Amino acid sequence: MPVKKDPAARAEELRSLLHYHNYRYHILNRPEISDAEYDRLFNELRELEATHPELIAPDSPTQRVGGAVAEGFASVQHRVPMLSLDNAYTADEIREFEARLQRALPGETFTYVCEPKVDGLGVALLYEKGRLGRGATRGDGRLGEDITQNLKTVRTIPLRLRGPLADLDVLEVRGEVFMGHEAFEDLNRTLEAEGEEPFANPRNAAAGSVRQKDSGITAKRPLDIFVYAVSDARPNPFATHWDAMQALGEAGFKINPRSRRCADIQAVITTCAELERDRANLGYDADGVVIKVDSLDQQRPLGATTHHPRWAVAYKFPAQQATTVVRKIEINVGRTGALTPTALLDPVEIAGATISRATLHNADEIERLDVREGDTVIVERAGDVIPHILRVVTEKRPPEANSFAFPTTCPVCGASAFRPEGEVVSRCANSTCPARLKEGLLHYGSRRAMDIEHLGEAVVEQLVDRGLVQTFADLYGLSVAQLAELDRLAEKSATNLHTAIQASKGRGLAPLLFALGIRYVGENVARILATEFGSMENLSHATEEQLAAVHGIGPRIAASVALFFQQPENRRLIAALREAGVKMEEATSAGPRPLLGKIFVLTGGLTQMTRDEAKAAIQRLGGRVTSSVSKKTDYVIIGKDPGSKVEEVRRLGVTTLDETEFLALVQKS
Ligand code: IVH
Repeated sequence: MPVKKDPAARAEELRSLLHYHNYRYHILNRPEISDAEYDRLFNELRELEATHPELIAPDSPTQRVGGAVAEGFASVQHRVPMLSLDNAYTADEIREFEARLQRALPGETFTYVCEPKVDGLGVALLYEKGRLGRGATRGDGRLGEDITQNLKTVRTIPLRLRGPLADLDVLEVRGEVFMGHEAFEDLNRTLEAEGEEPFANPRNAAAGSVRQKDSGITAKRPLDIFVYAVSDARPNPFATHWDAMQALGEAGFKINPRSRRCADIQAVITTCAELERDRANLGYDADGVVIKVDSLDQQRPLGATTHHPRWAVAYKFPAQQATTVVRKIEINVGRTGALTPTALLDPVEIAGATISRATLHNADEIERLDVREGDTVIVERAGDVIPHILRVVTEKRPPEANSFAFPTTCPVCGASAFRPEGEVVSRCANSTCPARLKEGLLHYGSRRAMDIEHLGEAVVEQLVDRGLVQTFADLYGLSVAQLAELDRLAEKSATNLHTAIQASKGRGLAPLLFALGIRYVGENVARILATEFGSMENLSHATEEQLAAVHGIGPRIAASVALFFQQPENRRLIAALREAGVKMEEATSAGPRPLLGKIFVLTGGLTQMTRDEAKAAIQRLGGRVTSSVSKKTDYVIIGKDPGSKVEEVRRLGVTTLDETEFLALVQKS
């Protein structure tokens, strides 16, 4: 428990500490404290702000979690237009760029800065006296949209500047918001686990996230930024672009570590070639190199056309494309029953990698491209992401190629496939479809779910095909002898697999909920449900309204969870898992649970413990905490300055406890 001191001073101290540790972690990659310690500081600030809402500052790190939902975005007029860039495609064209500079400023020599041209979204960040005041999209270059709330959730955008730049009256910085390859693939996995459409590429993912109406969603998207320009500084302290970038780095911005200062145009050409060679290893999509004149005294007289500055040019990497033939369109059935098409291609090389498959996403995409088996197509590879088909070369279409008929039945079990109104995905209607079961088992045993090592594809395939496993629960009845009979599984591996299966029984409620593959229940949602309800028993009895009342659980998730527990086959599955000894409680709820089934509401501030601690204590004892008072509420704990809930409580006649009574209840229990 922190020493009590003036709340305003403590809040400022916490903000400042959190800004510092955020900078160590996200910008320098050298954290000084553990994540748990960071969370402790963060929670303390949040508690403090909850009890003293007047202390919430616009640059508080708590603002990074988002939550505000926008009706639409206000229009922003850029003070300096956000221009695009002229392109160069060859070394000769880069030399021509220098020749143009020499014609414009005869007799001068030029040094340059080369930066990867990150493929994301341009944004403008406006700081006043070191505080982020506004963040806007590029829009059409003159008018953008105010997306301040969303940009505040990006951990690598400083809310408060460090060092001398913090004193500038006005500092406007521009940069590119993007999503790295790993983060992108993680996000798509999560979206798929939650039954949502994945994004086609990192750029779309970044664009979709940054223009979210609900900033709480943006906060969960792994966005990142590199800043690449100072568009306004009053007073302007910089002499060169390079110096400006270094100063931005020191002020807490993320600048691109692959940027290079080049003494002449030959060094520029070499740097471009290096970045091009390394393109696949950057970890994010870059479609070229931006070459800039370094001296700001030279940039100024060079000026700009209406479209682009004369002091910069974009060297564009050659497209990562190739022409090949679609041999077959294959349909795979995923764990949620989704039918996803893939094009099988004649192998072709793109930038050093052999490509033999391309994603087709869904039926709409096939229709849009009008791609047919036998077609010659242009495929493109962007970064590490699976290649996609850009277009069909219709001139080369063989006469016998027919339009692709998307299957109306499941290619694995033959059951009908349906496409719900308004959705792009067709799904197999058979919940016991072997393809779904196989994918489901792989997910059930995956690391972040029940973590069953050795439960790989080959094993799952045989378990299902031989009829040994029809539901997840059947896994627990498998003997070492049965496992040893599977092809390619020696006695020792069978023992290991058996041990791993048995060990998974103790994972706890959150991994189990994620493992079950309930639609819209990803890892995060599973954790929230487990903490909130404490046991499978509690959760299975929760009504849709009770579910939706939980912070972080929207109506769609609530409906899906309630529906899951209504299905007789799911009830049977849960019963069978319980019978097999699978733990159905949250890991922390080991002791006696005298508050089982009791519903609590907290209102007002507590002095002896934080809200999170109070919540944890209630949950440990089997109770639940909800946010709003209803007839079902058993106790309302009334702290300091409780607000309007108190009247509602009186009206409903719910039992109230003050902090001392609550502590007594917890201690007694
Ligand atoms: S400088 C007036 N530097 O590319 C200067 N732009 O085609 C223009 N971009 O809208 C921008 N990385 O969104 C610059 N290192 C970089 C960049 C970069 C990506 C984007 C930016 C701009 C577009 C221009």
